[in-house]
Amino acid sequence: MQGRLIVFEGVEGGGKTTQLRRSQQWLIESGWLELLQSKGCIKRLVTTREPGGTELGRQLRQLLLEQSTQDPIHDRAELLVFAADRAQHVDGVLRPQLADEALILCDRYTDSTIAYQGYGRGIDLTLINQLNQIATDNLQSDLTLWLDLDVATGLSRTQQRGTVDRIEQADLTFHQRVQQGFANLASRYPQRIVRINANQPEAVVAQHIQATLSEWLTHWYGVCLPSPP
Ligand SMILES: Nc1ncnc2c1ncn2[C@@H]1O[C@H](COP(=O)(O)OP(=O)(O)OP(=O)(O)O)[C@@H](O)[C@H]1O
Ligand SMILES: [Mg+2]
Repeated sequence: MQGRLIVFEGVEGGGKTTQLRRSQQWLIESGWLELLQSKGCIKRLVTTREPGGTELGRQLRQLLLEQSTQDPIHDRAELLVFAADRAQHVDGVLRPQLADEALILCDRYTDSTIAYQGYGRGIDLTLINQLNQIATDNLQSDLTLWLDLDVATGLSRTQQRGTVDRIEQADLTFHQRVQQGFANLASRYPQRIVRINANQPEAVVAQHIQATLSEWLTHWYGVCLPSPP
């Protein structure tokens, strides 16, 4: 059958990485993965991220996230480096894995570019959409989970992590514009983007995501997990 691409999106510290890992673990432990494999729906579960889902991407990620005071990255250069990471990721990982019937969980994808470089930095949205099309060769996510969290809460969570990267260091109004970008995308593409209230304890957010994943997997593959006795 066909592979599917599930993306986790949202502002800094929204819980994308945490929830992606929890979803991976839950798909394995709940029996979903085994069920999908035994019915011939998918061959494997793959987790990946942007930027940094390939060897080239890992180097680009480092360039994008480290702070250089001597030669700060200009906005258009930043946009193009993200696009290079994405093109490499699509051709090297996402397309081959989807063609080989993988279920993919991906940390950030095209909506982040629209939100950060478009709404956040103010680069023309038409240009960004064109660039996203070039970088992805028109590969869209099948489902995007937008972890919607208050910006200040997200930033304070990331600050507790200790190191703060170049993009996290941008001012609060930048992150608020990014947040508005995600909100606009979610209302524009309701068939693809599901809003998850991330202002809740981790386990509650995870339950909401699990319910959403169960619903979409059943819809895609026509199978469902037997309810526990
Ligand atoms: N629901 C939650 N409640 C409280 N803390 C949380 C919750 N979810 C995640 N955290 C914590 O917040 C921090 C940020 O979470 P995480 O790294 O998953 O976010 P992220 O969206 O991947 O961030 P980034 O945008 O920086 O990659 C982590 O320390 C994590 O343990
Ligand atoms: Mg993360």
